[in-house]
Amino acid sequence: MAQQTILVLNGPNLNLLGTREPQIYGSTTLDEIAQTMRTAARTKGWQIDFRQSNHEGELVDWIQQARTDADAIILNGGAYSHSSIAILDALQAVEKPVIEVHLSNLFKRETFRHHSYISPAAVGLICGFGARGYLLALDALEDCLD
Ligand code: DQA
Repeated sequence: MAQQTILVLNGPNLNLLGTREPQIYGSTTLDEIAQTMRTAARTKGWQIDFRQSNHEGELVDWIQQARTDADAIILNGGAYSHSSIAILDALQAVEKPVIEVHLSNLFKRETFRHHSYISPAAVGLICGFGARGYLLALDALEDCLD
């Protein structure tokens, strides 16, 4: 069987991880998260396609490509989680398992962060565990992939 590919998508401002409000988001950089995920995925026999964009349309394009190029999606949509119907529609069109991740605990924060437009397209949501949340999402996918 072909190796499973997990598309890991990161939305706006997540390129600044490590230096951006570390008291909220931690000191781990996005590159470090990508490396840790690649190592963890290898032990499961999966490969990681890790991407970040500050642009909503680019994220939509990448989600659409996942229809043919990926087996599952792990998504931290950043602020677009709280605003983007376009990302929700793209995720629903893909029909592959999606795990939503946020580093911070959204429910301890401003009320506008309590609602995510993309959650209805996700198998589940992991938030509040910092960078570890991405690894928890990989583990959660074990029950979602054939
Ligand atoms: C975030 C939470 C969002 O509310 C925020 O806009 C982000 C990061 C998180 O990972 O905690 O950019 O998605």
